[in-house]
Amino acid sequence: MDEQVTVFETVGGAPFFTSMIDRFFELVDADPVVRGLYPDDLTESRRTTASFLCQMWGGPTDYSLERGQPRLRMRHMPFAIGQLERDRWVEHMLTALGEMGLDPELEEAMVNYFETASTHMINQPE
Ligand code: HEM
Repeated sequence: MDEQVTVFETVGGAPFFTSMIDRFFELVDADPVVRGLYPDDLTESRRTTASFLCQMWGGPTDYSLERGQPRLRMRHMPFAIGQLERDRWVEHMLTALGEMGLDPELEEAMVNYFETASTHMINQPE
């Protein structure tokens, strides 16, 4: 039988993503370059970001059930994201990811995803 095991299952499900995102937002909270882009209360940002990532890596589709099509570039338009903001964002996400101790191949796949997708969110010229 050809059982497809998702990344979501391999990493242990939602707790992996919630831990990584909690750590990510700790780093965001301490960084003036990106902190101001987010609302004062980070509860919802934490929840929606983790929920999206669960879905993205093969977990339950709760994000889309609640929010509809991700259309992330469009959803980021209200926030001024230049190269500097993108670089800080990725730096914090990769720090949080690195601390999770994933298997290197899987970690590399996630690093590539975060680097590529975050570049796509840039909406301000240099
Ligand atoms: C891999 C790249 C990224 C992913 C997967 C991602 C994911 C998300 C998701 C799922 C949301 C919630 C959208 C919704 O309202 O349903 C969100 C919101 C947001 N993102 Fe991103 N994002 C990325 C890159 C960035 C970058 C580079 C920045 C800024 C430097 C950024 C700043 C924000 C801000 C300010 C919000 C609004 C938070 C809120 O209102 O609670 N994101 N992001």
